[in-house]
Amino acid sequence: MQASYIQVSEEMPLGKERQGSKEIAVSKDFPILQTKIRGKPLIYLDSAATSQKPLSVITAIDTYYKTTNANIHRGLHTLSGQATDLYEGARKKIATFIGANEKEIIFVRNATEAINLVAHTLHPKRGDMIVSTVMEHHSNIVPWQQVAQQTGALLAFIPLTKEGLLDMKKTNVLFAKKPLLVAFTHVSNVLGTINPVKELVALAHKYGALVLVDGAQAVPHIHVNVKELDADFYVFSGHKMLGPTGIGVLYGKKALLEKMDPFLTGGDMIKEVALEGSTWNELPWKFEAGTPNIAGAIGLGTAVDYLQSLGMENIQKHEQELLQYALEKMKCVAGVTMYGPLYDPLIRSGVIAFNLGDIHPHDLASVLDDEGIAIRSGHHCAQPLMQTLGVSATARISVSVYTTKKDIDVFLVALEKARRIFRL
Ligand SMILES: Cc1ncc(COP(=O)(O)O)c(C=O)c1O
Repeated sequence: MQASYIQVSEEMPLGKERQGSKEIAVSKDFPILQTKIRGKPLIYLDSAATSQKPLSVITAIDTYYKTTNANIHRGLHTLSGQATDLYEGARKKIATFIGANEKEIIFVRNATEAINLVAHTLHPKRGDMIVSTVMEHHSNIVPWQQVAQQTGALLAFIPLTKEGLLDMKKTNVLFAKKPLLVAFTHVSNVLGTINPVKELVALAHKYGALVLVDGAQAVPHIHVNVKELDADFYVFSGHKMLGPTGIGVLYGKKALLEKMDPFLTGGDMIKEVALEGSTWNELPWKFEAGTPNIAGAIGLGTAVDYLQSLGMENIQKHEQELLQYALEKMKCVAGVTMYGPLYDPLIRSGVIAFNLGDIHPHDLASVLDDEGIAIRSGHHCAQPLMQTLGVSATARISVSVYTTKKDIDVFLVALEKARRIFRL
């Protein structure tokens, strides 16, 4: 199997164990990449749906269950203390990784649950406005629709320019209406657009709005510092950033989280319970009712270690190069329509949604699967965006730390094969 290499420049931060090496082999760290699909080496180009996991993450979870498994916080015995230390240690790693205080890191199941947590504890009044955008994943649309229906709040969406960017003129108009909250994605899972989060947050704050940023497609790929961005809430999922499924993060500013009601109630999130009523635990536990995904949090902490050992700047550079390479090559494939900003790869992350002639994306995905290539096809949980693009579905490739130029080349050859099969 060929290893993928990320070039590391001297001045870029590296994990201790990797310091001194000029190149770091990456794909060899991911056991699944040795899998064969129909006898052909797996080419995994579906990392935006979920990323593959390095051996260190798999081992951390395995070791936890083999050596340390116990319930946390409540036990006085040794294992419970060790499990608590590992769980809370993971929280610290994640807080440091995104520039937050550990009290501001709430463990949830995924980005979707984090958005629901905020939506259901916001308590807007009738007539309050919530602003989202047309490029959102359903998880940043549907919870707001529900809340608006239940409370009489108004919902508005920022439209897009032809290039697949947020329309800043319309953004200004909507923000000037002084919404209660604006919720937008850092990186689009279809267009790849990297939104100008800092600028948008500053503008929203100027009009007194709270800001929730969906970082599900950003945290695995670019350096994120929530304090620099000044977002009030920032959400992401572990499984897209080399971590396990079933664990995600809500970051919220401490002062806001303290004022918010709990989302779920029960064990662990309380200070005292009497039959007449209860009081709430301190942050962050006030929002973590019941036994959490302890192994998941530990796995996510290890994924953060892994990302940091590569260096987010190196990861971004590696993925940018792959993106530019793929965009240039795909432009030359007759019949390909690509979506999202095409002329400035710096405002775009490693996701390419495209269509090939009038081949249905599901048919295309199936032909590529015969070649061992995993791509995504469908509406990508972004039906309003599909309507805006005038399509019902697209195919999509997406890259990660372990993706290689060779993967892109194999994919391009398979695209040509699909063109022949469908007589394009
Ligand atoms: C931009 C974006 N937001 C949110 C989500 C939802 O993530 P999860 O299903 O892990 O909650 C996704 C998943 O694809 C996404 O791409």
